[in-house]
Amino acid sequence: MIPALLAIHIAAVVIWIGGVVFVTTVVFPMIMRMEDSMEKVIFFQGTERRFARIAKVCVVIVGITGALALQLEHRWDVLFTWAGIGPTFMLFVWTLFVFMLLFEAKIFNFLFGGAAQHDTKKIFRKLTTAHWVVMSVSLMVVAVGVFTSHARLMK
Ligand code: HEM
Repeated sequence: MIPALLAIHIAAVVIWIGGVVFVTTVVFPMIMRMEDSMEKVIFFQGTERRFARIAKVCVVIVGITGALALQLEHRWDVLFTWAGIGPTFMLFVWTLFVFMLLFEAKIFNFLFGGAAQHDTKKIFRKLTTAHWVVMSVSLMVVAVGVFTSHARLMK
């Protein structure tokens, strides 16, 4: 049961974090090359909103399968301990994503509420940096997750 759960866990992680990598390394550079501000905003909102829907489904699957894996192994007590650094880090980043996806509409409205009056180039530069930070942290969780999971198995 646990290996099957973790297989689903990782499949959802791949789709979700892979999407974050795609948006950060492909979509953002394309947006930055666009001349027209309105075109930038429309393209960004179109791709990001579509991806947010896919990410939401993956976040739910990752959360359920991760929690079930801990429950079935009766390992909730490893959270917030050194031995459970992997799942603890996962839970932390997962919670961060849940908040970002829950308040996605509010964040968009705040950023682009009056896009015409704002400096869109500056906004997209900030968004690019934010995406690079989120992507790096996500990839770090994947690396820490695999490392600690297998280090634990080897003990
Ligand atoms: C950002 C979200 C997450 C990512 C990127 C992530 C990634 C990973 C990775 C890469 C593994 C290693 C699989 C392997 O090599 O065998 C793993 C395992 C695991 N994950 Fe996650 N995960 C996330 C969220 C969660 C959450 C929210 C929980 C539960 C609270 C969780 C619980 C677990 C458990 C219990 C394992 C088995 C390994 C172990 O017990 O150390 N994960 N995850």
